Amino acid sequence: MADYTLRLRRYSPESGEAPYWEEFEVDLDGKRSVLDGILQVKDRTDASIAIRCSCRAAICGSCGVRINGKPNLACHMHLDHAAENAVDGVITVEPMGNMPVIKDLIVDMDAVHWKKIQRVTPWLLPEGEEPEREHIVPPESMIDVTQTMACIQCGACVSDCLSMEVDPLFIGPAALAKSYRFVGDPRDGQQFERLRDLAEDPHGIYDCTHCFNCIEACPKGVAPMSQIMRLRRIAGDHEINDRNNGHRHEASFVTLIRDYGLLHEAELLPRSYGGDSWFGKFHPRAGQELASSLPSIVKALQRRKVTPKLAMLGHKIAKPDLDAVKRIYQQVGDQEERFELNLYVVGEEDEPSGTEPAHADAAGGHLPAERSPNQ
Ligand code: FES
Repeated sequence: MADYTLRLRRYSPESGEAPYWEEFEVDLDGKRSVLDGILQVKDRTDASIAIRCSCRAAICGSCGVRINGKPNLACHMHLDHAAENAVDGVITVEPMGNMPVIKDLIVDMDAVHWKKIQRVTPWLLPEGEEPEREHIVPPESMIDVTQTMACIQCGACVSDCLSMEVDPLFIGPAALAKSYRFVGDPRDGQQFERLRDLAEDPHGIYDCTHCFNCIEACPKGVAPMSQIMRLRRIAGDHEINDRNNGHRHEASFVTLIRDYGLLHEAELLPRSYGGDSWFGKFHPRAGQELASSLPSIVKALQRRKVTPKLAMLGHKIAKPDLDAVKRIYQQVGDQEERFELNLYVVGEEDEPSGTEPAHADAAGGHLPAERSPNQ
């Protein structure tokens, strides 16, 4: 048995008192979980500590908390591992972010997480005549959605989503990953309508800023941001030019890198609203956007994050490097079919035994790659 110190954030909104931290000692084997530690404290020292849990086996998703500042499942983190990564060995446990606290370590999942899940119509909408029995689909057509199906709705990705912190109305990583589960399902008949809805929503797929936090946070390897990018790519395939201009803005990043090798800030706006050249395509909405961005631009200039010359003329890379970038674009563009790395499902069906397993560990621990066609 070893001794560990847990530092828990306590808060009861109804008490009228401010949140506070409280430390407790637990004596448990290091391979027992942080949840076990909290339950021991509850059992032996203070029964009023509130935490939600059920399966204690990383299956139900109930025990999501922040451990040492990072979202995780309390039942999925060993005490010794948590102590190793803690300041002075004191394991801090606090409620997840981006959701209101009900009490101590329990957050209101209904107010945020489940509301957003409802937003994406989280059920199959098949079209056509009902089959006599079940819908039969080839197993390989389900590869892309397998990853999203591993989600246990713990809310870890929601907790650390930076976009949601800035825009609480953002549909968010968990709900958008859930949406891909149906967009990518060959049995669903509303792919286009779902995508158009998520693209047109100002808090939809183009509200994600690629911060990667959700990928790091997910204890199941769902990689919600990757699912959002898939949604965007398929929306692009359908030529959904949303009113938020998200698709064209994203496409302009792609063409800028192709043409310059690096981002060219001054050309980003006109391309997002107009086309490939600076002159003659300056859309009125780009002017509005530019005006609203002026305070940030001035601040960036004042802080020397950018110089007027660099902003106007763009960054330059050596010609051989630019040629190399162009060759990559050429090679990718020449492919008849688009392939994506699916880092979740691995192996081939007729792979000889003794090689990598056919499916990744659901806990997300072992994820070699296979190329799988996307839609
Ligand atoms: Fe079920 Fe932790 S208690 S996931």
